[in-house]
Amino acid sequence: MSILITNIKQLLQVHDNNVLVVKGKDMKSLPIIENAYLYIEHDTIIEYGEMKHCEGIEAETTVDATGKIVLPSWCDSHTHMVYAGNRTLEFVDRINGLSYAEIANRGGGILNSAKVLQETSEDDLYEQSIQRMEALIRMGTCAFEIKTGYGLTVDAELKMLRVIKRIKQESLAKITPTLLAAHAIPEAFRAKKEDYIKQITEELIPKASKLNVAHYIDVFCEEGYFDIADTEAVLKAGAKHQMRPKLHVNQFNILGGVALGAKYNALSVDHLEELNDADVKALKGSDTIPVALPGCSYFLSIPYTPARQLIDAGLPLAIATDYNPGSAPSGNMNFIVGAACVKLKMTPEEAINAATVNGAYAMGISNMYGSITRGKKANLIITKPLHHYNEIPYAFAHDPVDQVIINGQLKNI
Ligand code: NIG
Ligand code: FE
Repeated sequence: MSILITNIKQLLQVHDNNVLVVKGKDMKSLPIIENAYLYIEHDTIIEYGEMKHCEGIEAETTVDATGKIVLPSWCDSHTHMVYAGNRTLEFVDRINGLSYAEIANRGGGILNSAKVLQETSEDDLYEQSIQRMEALIRMGTCAFEIKTGYGLTVDAELKMLRVIKRIKQESLAKITPTLLAAHAIPEAFRAKKEDYIKQITEELIPKASKLNVAHYIDVFCEEGYFDIADTEAVLKAGAKHQMRPKLHVNQFNILGGVALGAKYNALSVDHLEELNDADVKALKGSDTIPVALPGCSYFLSIPYTPARQLIDAGLPLAIATDYNPGSAPSGNMNFIVGAACVKLKMTPEEAINAATVNGAYAMGISNMYGSITRGKKANLIITKPLHHYNEIPYAFAHDPVDQVIINGQLKNI
């Protein structure tokens, strides 16, 4: 299997030397080749360069990309896309004036999704989830982190992990699973949260570890959910099973989760709609990447992550969808890239870096994904005809994707 893409108007994110993460001022540069070709064998990027050097290269399939832009597929480092049903009734309740917290306090929110998921069969859950993913692959995302967290019992969390494992085995997309059992306090444990923490640390984490699916652990560190002591207990138990933290922090309140994440060598700290100087200081000198989720800010009408403060402090930043039924029911990374420019005041170059190589870093896969580099996986977006890559974020809510190559396989949309 070989594919030659010719006459590419702009080939984006080209790095001869493998790039793992892009930080601070460097996020403003996006290396490109104008009028380029790209040659793929099996699932791997083999060669690329200016069209004038393409002579003599032959392939089983040739794609003429005249007028089109080619870039690495989006890497969505934060999703909850395995869920059952939806929360449209709560959506209407919020329009009519109830807040996200008020809905959660009366047993809605995450607990509502958990109830539906517990009653959904494993096969049905798989079908609902894979359909969501197939739609998103057509929108240019080829790598997805997927969290549990709508099970909230040992059995239902393990059911979610098995569904994620099946998606990982059966889809061409790259999947990184994360265990998020500490997503909300189940109704049955409302008066004895410590018992739920014990169930997670002593029973679920060891059982999940045996399934050998999730190598990341997450906690919703937030008022009314899990405090710093709870979070630390879960992280400690995860560390015993080689699960690295990726945390929900600072969505509504600052509890100190950023510093805790950095202390436990978290791969990422996500949300950060609220942020203080101590958080920025804790991230400097760590290997932990902050992740902004502008789709959640949009949908819940809460503040946007102060991306400029993070980038201007020399830090890297990734952007992701947070795709979930309650706070961000869209997995469209094209919208997220546009929102990053409009709402987070990121330049198109910064937003594209944040959604490709830095997204891959926030999933622990940037050695093989996120840039056009010889030897990396052939996961690519071929756009519709565009004059410039700026049009991707500019034409917000448009779908710029014409074709995708996923794991070396060409898919027409
Ligand atoms: O990332 N903040 C916690 N978890 C999700 C929302 C989950 C839900 O409302 O179902 C989030 O926004
Ligand atoms: Fe989330």
